[in-house]
Amino acid sequence: MATKLRSQTWFDSLEYYAFARRAYIRSEGLSRQSFFGKPVIGICNSWSELNHCNIHLRTVAEAVKRGVWQAGGVPFEFPTISLGEVFMRPTTMLFRNLMAMDVEESIRANPLDGVVLLCGCDKTTPAQLMGAASADLPSIFVTGGPMLSGDYKGGKVGSGTDMRKIFDNYRTGQMSDEELCEFEGCAARSHGHCMVMGTASTMTSIAEALGMTLTGCASIPAPDSRRLAMAELSGRRIVEMVNEDLRPSKIMTREAFENAITTSMALGGSTNAVVHLIAIAGRLGIQITLEDFHRISKSTPYLANIKPSGSYLMEDFFYSGGLPALMRNILPLLHGDCITVTGSTIGENLKDSPCYNEDVIRPLDKALNTEGGTLILYGNLAPNGAVIKHTAASEHLLQHRGPAYVFDDHEHMLADLLRDDLPVDENTVLVLKNAGPHGGPGFPEWGQIPMPTKLLKRGVKDMVRISDSRMSGTSFGTVVLHISPESAIGGPLAAVQTGAEIVLDTAGRRIDINIPQAELDRRLAAFEPPKPHYTRGYGKMFLDHVTQAHLGCDFDFLHGEAK
Ligand code: FES
Repeated sequence: MATKLRSQTWFDSLEYYAFARRAYIRSEGLSRQSFFGKPVIGICNSWSELNHCNIHLRTVAEAVKRGVWQAGGVPFEFPTISLGEVFMRPTTMLFRNLMAMDVEESIRANPLDGVVLLCGCDKTTPAQLMGAASADLPSIFVTGGPMLSGDYKGGKVGSGTDMRKIFDNYRTGQMSDEELCEFEGCAARSHGHCMVMGTASTMTSIAEALGMTLTGCASIPAPDSRRLAMAELSGRRIVEMVNEDLRPSKIMTREAFENAITTSMALGGSTNAVVHLIAIAGRLGIQITLEDFHRISKSTPYLANIKPSGSYLMEDFFYSGGLPALMRNILPLLHGDCITVTGSTIGENLKDSPCYNEDVIRPLDKALNTEGGTLILYGNLAPNGAVIKHTAASEHLLQHRGPAYVFDDHEHMLADLLRDDLPVDENTVLVLKNAGPHGGPGFPEWGQIPMPTKLLKRGVKDMVRISDSRMSGTSFGTVVLHISPESAIGGPLAAVQTGAEIVLDTAGRRIDINIPQAELDRRLAAFEPPKPHYTRGYGKMFLDHVTQAHLGCDFDFLHGEAK
């Protein structure tokens, strides 16, 4: 147990400001007995009405408070900025580091002994993990949980994934305005985050695999009463963690990060996990590289039959046993001795974790794929790496060569894709430039370039698309992403011109442009960077300090353990 509670240095002294703090905190209606000498637990809440996925987190916070009081602590809920994935422009990723800084400094600046962090929507989980890692006070995560399954005309539909398919039907005239309006009410029918294995489900599962949540937390649907019970238990547990001085740096070790990568691969998790895990580990001075993802992906079978790579939804996953059942199946591939917020090891936590449906959570001998969901590519277009979610790609396109059609920016791309005279066919490789951390700006999710309308009308559903952008975890298709270095700072992608032959060789782990190296060098020597998107404010700080995709896109000055 810690010898003296950190919060006591705020309240327990004879100096004036300790007296003033006691006096002012009592203005919240607390008696001295209710807070003095007790573990003070912050509840870091990413609730916002501008973030529909996290809209229920005030209710979740009340359940956490119940648990904290029961265990003898005193809870204080506080807000930070929140990042609503579909609302924020140009992209929530521009603000992930800002939220992480808000979380870190709010924890450090206040009289807290421990923290419960409430998250859900895509970037809120990695931002909180980064902030909590840097602040390094005892911390436990309560994720908001996935939405209930969508339902349209008697069939289950997944938010994001099926919305894209439906919208393609609409823009090719196969669906009426009335049907689209009806679908809008069916696709996201409860609070909670997207209920496919998108970035939110991936990152909340990763929080659990890292050991930062109680066992089974990530998979419980948001509206299920057991989520509030989980929140209450987490509130009880954080008080014990303060007494045990169990901090993120003791839990999120290199082995824990390897567990998280293994779990993400078995889940067919979002490609965004690559960027986020590198950034979170960087906050603890742990270097995770793209090669770690490649090595683990090669030896981890893909087991979770969930959209967009599989067939089911997160609600089915929960009823089948959820993340604990999946992790038990891959326990031989995990570091079972990693300690978690429970105070027990991963191996001990997973002892009694049955699977109730082996079609949803496959055993090792019935894997959906012998390898994990994310492949790391290199080549003359991506000297520092690129990623492809090959489990959600078209088999026939994984080895492909075809002429490039280049879009220099997102806005023109969207307009061009509607043209009936766009000079592309199913063999063309669509190339989007200026969509990385500097170019987007903020590394937006533009990488799943929409299929050209004229090809959709002919029934073509997929083609090779490459960019220095990211894509939503709910997306699918033969899409090469995160090309590093990015085109806006003079990466080789900047040298691609329409008509050049692009070669995708996933077996050889390469993405190349088929031109002589001397010509590539000549074009890059003549490269002129685009005008920066920002010259002041947070945007300028972002451009001055963000690292490239293969380094996690954190700010260079936030790497390493906080002293
Ligand atoms: Fe929040 Fe999908 S919009 S997780």
